Formats: sequence, structure tokens, C-alpha cells
Amino acid sequence: MKTATHQSVLEGVDEALTEEREPTRAMERVVAILKREVPSYTWVGIYLLEGGELVLGPFLGKPSPHTRIPLGRGICGAAATEKQTIVVDDVNADPRYLACSLETRSEIVVPIMSGGRVLGEIDIDSDRQSAFGAADKDLLEAIASRLATTLERTPQNPAEPENHEP
Ligand code: SME
Repeated sequence: MKTATHQSVLEGVDEALTEEREPTRAMERVVAILKREVPSYTWVGIYLLEGGELVLGPFLGKPSPHTRIPLGRGICGAAATEKQTIVVDDVNADPRYLACSLETRSEIVVPIMSGGRVLGEIDIDSDRQSAFGAADKDLLEAIASRLATTLERTPQNPAEPENHEP
């Protein structure tokens, strides 16, 4: 279900990421846009990979008991290990699933990758079964790619250096 086109969501994300260079604030803005613009996205969060564990960063929705997920556990761990998006149409039929809320019916996890390296992932739950289709996958993979650029950009590694000394 969409109240805004996926294109307009992506434009909103682009605008937010242009304005907001600080990684945590940038992730908060992205989570807020997705939660607000797509009603079927019941829980929206971003995990960052830290020393072999996925650590929960900004999120909106009910608090999750899974604030640290080892690689190889849950849908989240599987997506990070396989380095690809995982869509689960019915979480109750997937033995990998780590429950966050009893109402959750479907889930999508999209790795945030840079040069073959997993930096983190976008995790979205829905109370609707089979809520995530090809358009959601395309949208979220485009956002993950933009977030990778933001997360890679540090003061030591600016994307657009201001000085071009010879
Ligand atoms: N369901 C996830 C755990 C995270 S919560 O949904 C927020 C999983 O199976 O990895």
C-alpha cells in the first residue's frame, strides 16, 4: 500500500541526506520518512554492523528485544551474511525469524553495502502478510545505497573536500 509514490519517498530521502551529513541524524531522517510515508511499514529500523554483531540504531515502532543480533541469527543476520535483500512474506513460516512483535506478519531486510562490505541494514516489519513487493525492494535498495555513501563519509574521508591544494 502506498500513500506517496516510491519516487517521491526517494526524493524526500535524497533531500534529507543532502541536508543532513551527520550519520546518526541522517539515519533518523530516513527512518522517519519511511515510517511516515508508507503506512504498511509498521516498524522501521537501521542496524549497523559492529564487530560481527548487528547493533540497532535509529528505529520507529515498538521497542525491539533484538538490539544486538549476531551474524547468522535471524532474518537480519541472514541478510548480512548473504549480502542480499531478504523478503519474508510470512514470518511465522520462517524458522530463522526472531520475533519482535506478535502483530508482525512480513519483513524485509536490505543490506547497506559499500564495495562488497556490509555496513549495516534497513529492517522493516509489517503487520500485513506479503507486504513487500518488487517496488519496495527497489526503493529500499536505492535508499541503502545512498545511506552507504553517508555512512562512509567521515571527517577523515570527505566525499567533497573543500580544499584542492596542489
Ligand atoms: N525479525 C528480525 C529481528 C529484528 S526485529 O524484527 C526488529 C530477525 O528475524 O532478524
